[in-house]
Amino acid sequence: MNIRMNRRRRLYEGKAKVLFEGPEPGTLVQYFKDDATAFNNQKKGTITGKGVLNNRISEYLMTKLNEIGVPTHFMRRLNMREQLIRKVEIIPIEVVVRNVVAGSLAKRLGIPEGTVLPRSIVEFYYKNDQLGDPMVSDEHITAFGWACAPELEEIMSLALRVNDYLSGLFLGIGLKLVDFKLEFGRVWEEDGMMRIILADEISPDNCRLWDVRSNEKMDKDRFRQDLGKVEEAYQEVARRLGIMPEMVTGADVPLDGSIETIGKA
Ligand code: TMP
Ligand code: ASP
Repeated sequence: MNIRMNRRRRLYEGKAKVLFEGPEPGTLVQYFKDDATAFNNQKKGTITGKGVLNNRISEYLMTKLNEIGVPTHFMRRLNMREQLIRKVEIIPIEVVVRNVVAGSLAKRLGIPEGTVLPRSIVEFYYKNDQLGDPMVSDEHITAFGWACAPELEEIMSLALRVNDYLSGLFLGIGLKLVDFKLEFGRVWEEDGMMRIILADEISPDNCRLWDVRSNEKMDKDRFRQDLGKVEEAYQEVARRLGIMPEMVTGADVPLDGSIETIGKA
């Protein structure tokens, strides 16, 4: 199984994924690990099966986003843990979109978790582990040349489109999209034009998803906060999305991801 993997050149290893050289120029293979970290690498662990689930969940969501005209790096899934992606020049900014107060926003401003925001908020963080991914403003981003003003405008507009689409998609399966993090990259098309596309992954590793009825956390906060049932939460998200139905256990659970089963996880 590893023979093919070992033949490829490993280009970059992150906390949850590994990037290998792809089969054609301009492509990469993105491998999803079970490793999980939190609080800038201070907490480490593994979530069994996470890589397989995130590969499928990210495939599903990126495919849907491609269909509605949000360009993404996703090309196709290769196997359980790997997907073929377009090689991009990563813009070193983490774009966080928030709909409900949670996590660092709750802590920093002392606002109770769960407070619904009057409108969606977009935040930027400079991608730098040594510095602990500090929050930055558009002024820092353009002044230091991480992205130019028109690029930032495009990033904001794409992030909000992703938010609108994914909020509806998740609500349809009984999940509230509380917040999430996106990364973008630059690609150069054949005509020489540069374009900004969505990169990285979209999964319960970088989204907060709460059950609409019980407010139960169905994402990586279960790992960050030692809430238990971490694997089960990732599986439940995949199951409700209607992917990996083979993972459903228990004859009482319908395979159609209908919201009648909410609260089971
Ligand atoms: P935060 O509340 O900790 O700032 O996180 C906001 C969202 O961004 C949340 O959905 C988790 C996600 N996130 C990442 O994907 N990677 C990170 O390094 C951090 C800090 C947050
Ligand atoms: N992934 C980040 C880290 O390892 C933070 C997080 O997701 O909480 O530190």
